[in-house]
Amino acid sequence: MIGEKKSLFSGMQATGNLTLGNYLGALRNWVTLNEEYECFYCVVDEHSITIRQDPAVLRKRARALLTLYIAAGLDPEKNCIYYQSHVSAHAELAWILNCFTYMGELNRMTQFKDKAAKHADNINAGLFTYPVLMAADILLFQADVVPVGIDQMQHLEITRDIAQRFNGIYGDVFTIPEAYLGKVGAKIMSLQDPTKKMSKSDENANASIYLMDDPDTVMRKCKRAVTDSEAQILYRDEQPGVKNLLDIYCACTGKTADEAVKEFDGKGYGELKTAVGESVVAVLKPLQDEVARLEKDKAYIDNAIKTNAEKANYAATKTLRKVQKKVGFPERIR
Ligand code: TYM
Repeated sequence: MIGEKKSLFSGMQATGNLTLGNYLGALRNWVTLNEEYECFYCVVDEHSITIRQDPAVLRKRARALLTLYIAAGLDPEKNCIYYQSHVSAHAELAWILNCFTYMGELNRMTQFKDKAAKHADNINAGLFTYPVLMAADILLFQADVVPVGIDQMQHLEITRDIAQRFNGIYGDVFTIPEAYLGKVGAKIMSLQDPTKKMSKSDENANASIYLMDDPDTVMRKCKRAVTDSEAQILYRDEQPGVKNLLDIYCACTGKTADEAVKEFDGKGYGELKTAVGESVVAVLKPLQDEVARLEKDKAYIDNAIKTNAEKANYAATKTLRKVQKKVGFPERIR
């Protein structure tokens, strides 16, 4: 809780090209939430350096992501949209929370195991303590809810555990956050292997639809999507490729799975794939146009960055000071 409203926090990494999964599973669901919640949306650039980055590319991607937040419909006057690295309280709280998190807990994190396997030459301590920084992000803003896709649930659980542990020692310092999952699209799968989530780090470019893919590319990737030999369009776990296409279709059109199955009754996979591709293009095209428009408006974006960083700093510092006092750091002399 911050002020009168309940508080909400979420973030995305500016690593790689954002996928349709990021959009349907997270970003798109954020747009209407500011009526009910005080919303903080962070470009988590500090998380990104757990994997080696080219500095110029990271800077560019971070700005592109912040612009995308706004293009997706997050009004920067009504939502606090900012860079994690502009609010030093994130790193400071993460340090404190590190001292309240166990190695055993972090060892269980599947994302750490996956990333460590993928980047075996750079298993750094930051990669290991990544969930603690994420906990700090959320707890700094006393978030009541955290809208994320299913893949982040384990990180949210550890955040709750850390917060409860801290509160158990020092009293009610942190709000215990709840996950907020979208009704559809919470787990969009790879187009080439529908048992794996669609991921920006997938090496096979055909596996993911990127938000900036042009219409031809989107159609081509949908047409190449892996399905099965059942030759029937049903929404069921036994047909993960078809199910994923229907999920994408429903998320893009607002139709229910039942409606979609009826619509494609007696039709072939080719028709399904075309319809899915068209529904994705219809969602992405306006988003891409808005990104292009905003990219030209440097002063507007710069102003949003400056004012929102101040707002985020103010809210975050308030929690940080409380925590610092609780753990016994000396008071500041004014
Ligand atoms: P990231 O950057 O990997 O993903 C951003 C958001 O997109 C969701 N998502 C998906 N949803 C559905 N289907 C998919 N295939 C898919 N792929 C990704 C993710 O669940 C996420 O909501 N650790 C986080 C970033 C983060 C964060 C936070 C999130 C840092 N601090 C605090 C919430 C609160 C991450 O790497 O997300």
